[in-house]
Amino acid sequence: MRTGPALLTALTALAAYYVYTPLPGTLNEPWKLMLLGATFRCAQDLSTFAHYLGLSHHLHVLNFVSSYFDKLDPESSANLKVTDTAFDGVGVRIFEPKKELHGSLQRSIIYVHGGGWALGSARTRSYDSLCRKISENVDAVVVSIEYRLVPNVHFPEQIHDVYTATKYFLQPEILAKYSVDPQRIALSGDSAGGNLAAAVCQQLTQDDDMTTKVKLQALIYPVLQMLDFNTPSYQQNMNMPILNRFVMIEFWLDYINSSYSFAHAMLVNNHTSLDVTEAVSLRQLLNWSSLLPSSFKKNYKPLLQSIGSPSIAQEVPALFDPRASPLIAHKEILRKLPKTYVLTCEHDVLRDDGTMYVKRLEEAGVDVTHDHYEDGFHGCMLFATWPMYFSAGARTRDGYIKWLRENL
Ligand SMILES: *[C@@H]1O[C@H](CO)[C@@H](O)[C@H](O)[C@H]1NC(C)=O
Ligand SMILES: *[C@@H]1O[C@H](CO)[C@@H](O)[C@H](O)[C@H]1NC(C)=O
Ligand SMILES: *[C@@H]1O[C@H](CO)[C@@H](O)[C@H](O)[C@H]1NC(C)=O
Repeated sequence: MRTGPALLTALTALAAYYVYTPLPGTLNEPWKLMLLGATFRCAQDLSTFAHYLGLSHHLHVLNFVSSYFDKLDPESSANLKVTDTAFDGVGVRIFEPKKELHGSLQRSIIYVHGGGWALGSARTRSYDSLCRKISENVDAVVVSIEYRLVPNVHFPEQIHDVYTATKYFLQPEILAKYSVDPQRIALSGDSAGGNLAAAVCQQLTQDDDMTTKVKLQALIYPVLQMLDFNTPSYQQNMNMPILNRFVMIEFWLDYINSSYSFAHAMLVNNHTSLDVTEAVSLRQLLNWSSLLPSSFKKNYKPLLQSIGSPSIAQEVPALFDPRASPLIAHKEILRKLPKTYVLTCEHDVLRDDGTMYVKRLEEAGVDVTHDHYEDGFHGCMLFATWPMYFSAGARTRDGYIKWLRENL
């Protein structure tokens, strides 16, 4: 029987081909990241196949594969009381430290989970444990928002959900109910959750009838713009697990309920070429030639097309909407924002989204802390416990928590 070994060799080669991704030497634990990336790709391929067969929308399948079996009931512990409830119709999971308050008030963090506006949940193991950790270590009430996802709803519904739940929580009588100090509330989120947190923070500064203001915003490798998919970090990390450039563009197109047929044009910045009238002034707001440090720019060249695809801008008005891309908000809005924390990772297509926001906020006079992790990759903060432990995961999480402890 010689077909057995031959078949085994072929399968091993195929598996190795599937798993193997060339990764830079500055990453710790590269094999673990390759396996993690292959798991994500496998889930994506399966869901695309199910979509192709007409079984279900591929994002429903992907969400099912990635989180259905992973949703936890709210379970209190010796230190925390955990409950699920709704704030003005929007689901939330609340983590409250168990302690005698004797009339004193506590700090609070409103948390918005990531997952490309389409995946994840406040109830998955990863976000449930992250929020527990934050609540215990910062000693604060954490409100984790269960906003609705793509493809059930699209932009700007996710923002409305986060805004609605936040506004409900910020009412004096609700804060009193949870013994929360109105002066010490932060709004935070990671990845697409960082995008929603940033958008809602901007919106709150324009809402004159809000008596309570958030004290801080803390954004973890946030998504902040869809005008330039050729920033140095997009070029450098275009094939990086667990979020490559093409998948990020697809998440954007799904979020704004647009067609994948635009993806290839957007890949070469055809959607913000110089013949797109609205794009010309907006591109100055994310001009990375002037906004990024040279250690980030390296030798990458800007990609600015003189002739592109102006029809995309006509069909996709969300393209130039600062609620979708908080990085392009005007300075008058940025200067009203609270003290800010931005975490970025070197091996992440979104590194420059966060870094440009840091620079624009500083220029607008906002007090900003920028924590950059040279060995970090997109999503790493969720991989800080066994069996998926990355040292960058634990360090990003602990650094973020430390900043909250010291500043909230
Ligand atoms: C999303 O786009 C599809 C197809 O163009 C359309 O049928 C649907 O009504 C849109 N949904 C929303 C919420 O705009
Ligand atoms: C970006 O900034 C550089 C350097 O300040 C400048 O030369 C260039 O014209 C700017 N590009 C855009 C599109 O504004
Ligand atoms: C970008 O736009 C140019 C000019 O319209 C066009 O020739 C080119 O095919 C477009 N590229 C893509 C990938 O759509």
